[in-house]
Amino acid sequence: MTSLAPVVTARNDQEAWWRDAVIYQIYPRSFADSDGDGLGDLPGITSHMDHLAALGVDAIWLSPFYPSPQVDAGYDVADYFDVAPEYGTLADFDVMVAAARAVGIRVVVDVVPNHSSDQHAWFRAALAAGPGSPERDRYIFRHNPDGPPNNWGSLFGGSAWTRVEPLTGRPEDRDWWYLHLFAAEQPDFNWDHPEVREMFRDFLRFWATRGVDGFRVDVAHGLVKAPGLPDDALGADRWRGFAVDEDGASVPKTADNGPMFDQPGVHEIYRDWRRVLSAIRPDILLVAEAWVDPPEHMARYVREDEMSQAFNFDYLKSAWRAADLRQVIDTSMEANAAVGAPTTWVLSNHDVVRHATRFGYPPGSEPDGGIGAEDPQPDAALGLRRARAATLFALGLPGGMYMFQGEELGLPEHTTMDDSARQDPAWLRTDKQTRGRDGCRVPLPWAVDAPACGFNTTGLSWLPQPEGWDGYAPAAQETDPDSTLAMYRRAIATRREWRLGRGEIQWLEGLPGQVLAVRNGEVIVVTNTGDEELQLPLAGTVLVQSWNGEMGDRADTVVVPANATVWLAAS
Ligand code: GLC
Repeated sequence: MTSLAPVVTARNDQEAWWRDAVIYQIYPRSFADSDGDGLGDLPGITSHMDHLAALGVDAIWLSPFYPSPQVDAGYDVADYFDVAPEYGTLADFDVMVAAARAVGIRVVVDVVPNHSSDQHAWFRAALAAGPGSPERDRYIFRHNPDGPPNNWGSLFGGSAWTRVEPLTGRPEDRDWWYLHLFAAEQPDFNWDHPEVREMFRDFLRFWATRGVDGFRVDVAHGLVKAPGLPDDALGADRWRGFAVDEDGASVPKTADNGPMFDQPGVHEIYRDWRRVLSAIRPDILLVAEAWVDPPEHMARYVREDEMSQAFNFDYLKSAWRAADLRQVIDTSMEANAAVGAPTTWVLSNHDVVRHATRFGYPPGSEPDGGIGAEDPQPDAALGLRRARAATLFALGLPGGMYMFQGEELGLPEHTTMDDSARQDPAWLRTDKQTRGRDGCRVPLPWAVDAPACGFNTTGLSWLPQPEGWDGYAPAAQETDPDSTLAMYRRAIATRREWRLGRGEIQWLEGLPGQVLAVRNGEVIVVTNTGDEELQLPLAGTVLVQSWNGEMGDRADTVVVPANATVWLAAS
């Protein structure tokens, strides 16, 4: 057995709630719609708090619900201190927080500090005030008569620079550009500006004193850019595989994160944020969305005086192969252990193809971008089977678990969405080359044979729901002990009971190559990633299993079907 023990244990946040939390991501537009306009809202979340309580999650994380023109589904914030009217009011937010508290669920919100909306008062003032003004200094404006000031590409396709309409006919007003790593409607802030820093301190104080328990930090690796904004050695090719991949080929990974990401200066910002939050409450979660290589660089974000956790995207990106998964688990746990941080596990979110669909493709060719009706379609049954196995394996590991709304229902990606319905800026900005992320964002089904599958009562839905969507509704699964929902509930409850999130793991060696097997305290967690059933020399009582059918009992050998996971209470 090889064991992975924490290296640094003497952190003050050793007992913090988030270390082993199961955190459920709510995408407010698509969760539940109380007023029937086709967009989800905060009262919709409140009305389904019982579902979240029964699921057993420790916290919910809400993607942005702030006032926004919704060019990037709310990740283009026009006002950081309010609720978008289409989602409700600040009072609705308070009611939702109280409802969550009443059932012991904490609330995490998104902070979007890399960029604002172009409709934010500061950016409108910047455009109106003209070149050289203090207003422009809060964003990144540059003058260049020869074209974009450097070769950076936007992650959503095209150049990362947009030319500013001159205010007057004066020559000095011409040839100004502003930087946007994402859509043109998402101008990047200048984090050298003290007012930008102060506004985000105010943001953290505002929401934390309203009862928020944590913040998910959007594009946490992007706030500080390399001095002088030098050209990127990879140019716009850097984002192949994210947004501008026409031929399915990804650019080889490099350890270089580019001049726009992972600059040393970002860490001072998070140290500052930690000081601000510690003055309010010591256990407020900061979780980094940082797509950074290698794992040792990721670990810098979660040093004790910075953030609490970072999403483990290497795990999300891993192929369905035991050796690949084991390697990611080992390297991510080692890198985090070096700074005493817990690792996190994540398989789906609002930016990637849902894992029930990803795993419906041959291992190693899981798609990393949106899927259209003419693309090869997944084996849906196999995908769901593997997804359940993958989730159950991850829930058996120590650390934090992030899940995306609907995965507890086994929801697949919408892979045949009519292209005319797509709304992701990645689709629009790449001249419809990249299908983008709409397929994972389809409004949830709640009821069988109901308008919009119970998402609301009017039948409106901002993205179309596929045929048969109501078959996944909680109402359809509630009484079925073999349902995906039942497996999630059982697994989360068992994880808590056996304190698996706080455990340490040891690999069980000597098993076939397609097996992942760890001992976590008193529990053995075994996954068969292969396509053949295996009989394994492991003993114990079955606690949870990912496949339908007879729940095994005590045994001295365990039969694990293909693409399945089982938890055993070791004897
Ligand atoms: C993050 C969000 C994504 C958004 C982008 C720009 O990656 O998760 O949805 O489009 O940031 O804010």
